Amino acid sequence: MLLKGKVVVVTGGGQGIGQGIVECAARDGARVAILDIRTERAKDLAKQLAARSLEVAVWQADVADAASFGEAIGNVAAKWGRIDALVNNAGVVAPPGSFMDGDPATWDHMIDVDYKGVLNGIRAAVPHLQRAGGGAIVNIGSDSARFGEVGIAVYSGCKGAVNSVSKSLAKELASARIRINVIAPGLIDTPIMDVARSTPEGAKMIEDTQKTIPLGKLGVPEDIGNLASFLVSDRASYITGQTISVNGGMIMFG
Ligand SMILES: NC(=O)c1ccc[n+]([C@@H]2O[C@H](COP(=O)([O-])OP(=O)(O)OC[C@H]3O[C@@H](n4cnc5c(N)ncnc54)[C@H](O)[C@@H]3O)[C@@H](O)[C@H]2O)c1
Repeated sequence: MLLKGKVVVVTGGGQGIGQGIVECAARDGARVAILDIRTERAKDLAKQLAARSLEVAVWQADVADAASFGEAIGNVAAKWGRIDALVNNAGVVAPPGSFMDGDPATWDHMIDVDYKGVLNGIRAAVPHLQRAGGGAIVNIGSDSARFGEVGIAVYSGCKGAVNSVSKSLAKELASARIRINVIAPGLIDTPIMDVARSTPEGAKMIEDTQKTIPLGKLGVPEDIGNLASFLVSDRASYITGQTISVNGGMIMFG
């Protein structure tokens, strides 16, 4: 089994892409810790997976709050004795719209969760990964940071920052045998898309973009989960500092 013996932490694992990452990691043999600000769905998911004899536990944590994130990571290590991988997946997006019409108060929330949440997670997890002799971090970015999506400028900027910091830290932490990569999803059908669909501009953006996808459909959370499992596994031991798109061919980077 790809992840047998590993402990994998997934933030925002209660629904959407995070749920896909949790399901794939558990299927692949990992013990999986879900850290989510809302725990009801995550607990239901853990129960469903336990019924298949898969080991998943849930802790409440706000990734934007370094103390809350750190405490939850400490609890995972106390329960299972080690942490081998962290997937920083939790994210939020404000309804799409013009930058000039946007409310600066919503910027802070996106910056706190989508960017600072990743920094908080890395700071909290690295000492545990080092104690395990090394490990892997996967940050969930977005293709919107790579091609300049209209209507979600601040969100895209946060994801661009995630790409940049991941490269810098992949270099800084390589000597500690810690690999860091980014998965950049294209359009994946999850509840976050309902936020995007909530304005006429957002709904049109999704409809227009979908038409440009060579594989002709939106992605599903498992598409991201399968790559996350591979990237945190030892089979990816020579891959670090990369941003890998999972987008049905929507954008092809050279
Ligand atoms: N769905 C897409 O098409 C798409 C595309 C590109 C990138 N992404 C990224 O993928 C990730 C997951 O997106 P999704 O579509 O599954 O979203 P979602 O809204 O369906 O799920 C997000 C999860 O994160 C949790 N969460 C939110 N704020 C949190 C916080 N402060 N602390 C802890 N948990 C928190 C939520 O409770 C939820 O379980 C995000 O980082 C998002 O930016 C999604």
